[in-house]
Amino acid sequence: MLALADFSTRLIAWQRVHGRHDLPWQNTRDPYWIWLSEIMLQQTQVSTVIPYYARFLARFPDVNALAAAPLDDVMALWAGLGYYSRARNLHRCAQVVSEQFGGAFPQTVDELAELPGIGRSTAAAIASFAFGARATILDGNVKRVLARVFGIDGFPGEKRVENAMWTLAESLLPDAAHPDDVTAYTQGLMDLGATLCVRGKPDCARCPFAADCVANVSGRQRELPAARPKKTLPTKKTWMLVLKDGDAVLLEKRPPTGIWGGLWSLPEAAGEDALADVAHGFGGTDELHRLAPLTHTFTHFKLEIEPRLAQVGGGARFQAANGETVWAPLAEIDAFGLPAPVRKLLDALQGSLI
Ligand code: ADE
Repeated sequence: MLALADFSTRLIAWQRVHGRHDLPWQNTRDPYWIWLSEIMLQQTQVSTVIPYYARFLARFPDVNALAAAPLDDVMALWAGLGYYSRARNLHRCAQVVSEQFGGAFPQTVDELAELPGIGRSTAAAIASFAFGARATILDGNVKRVLARVFGIDGFPGEKRVENAMWTLAESLLPDAAHPDDVTAYTQGLMDLGATLCVRGKPDCARCPFAADCVANVSGRQRELPAARPKKTLPTKKTWMLVLKDGDAVLLEKRPPTGIWGGLWSLPEAAGEDALADVAHGFGGTDELHRLAPLTHTFTHFKLEIEPRLAQVGGGARFQAANGETVWAPLAEIDAFGLPAPVRKLLDALQGSLI
């Protein structure tokens, strides 16, 4: 069994030689840069995040600029990254930092964890990367590494298992000899989980813990960490209306809370008949044309989408008086924050003859 004190020494040495050193949010201690990256990386992988990250920094170079921007602009720039509550919290967090902290992020884990969208692990990542704090992270990647190296059974999403992992993770932290060690250690945990100790086929031959890792030594890499206990997701169904007037489609703003809150989407109904009424309301014809169905999986349910297209002719189009609908030229829909399946649906329409 690996001595606890050896874990950080070995991980830091490995990170310095084999870890990642050139990600866009590394080689800085700017808390705004680091915070933004950690929020984007919460449920999204590095390669997806990189172009979004660059666009956000170009558009909002500091926390005050982000705080001052309309939420709509933030949502539009976030569109496609998913988990949209992150974008709403990001904006609120920027406003709190700008207004209550004079634009300077607080430096302790406890204060950071009070801010919108920042949980215990993200607070620790920011504190260690930006301020060299001796703080413990525990995200999905780290849970996988610990479950394997130390042979921890049980589903890590379960409170009892998670608590045990927090205690272990805290006991593994390096001594606070130097802030750079803390940074290398925290980054090393992330790098090991993302590059070698991956979910599908871990590269144990290159791992600094191969000789001691419980999963490797006992050939249990596939069983650790234990999978979420199986539960089939419930399915919901919705009908979406693509109202088309020449090159323009009708977009409708979603309510600020709930799924896709604040994004622009298509009018919806719970059935085909109800959809025809909605089409009439906006000047659409009776004829609903079937488009290919789509399925979108959320964390807690699956959504089956039945899209229908209706034409609006002869300048008969209407929009809602409250400003929550807009006729958008298909060529310009990239400027709107759209849910991924709606974007897919409208992209497929662009260039089609319908
Ligand atoms: N995932 C979460 N935070 C990360 C970081 N700073 N670098 C790489 N992957 C990450």
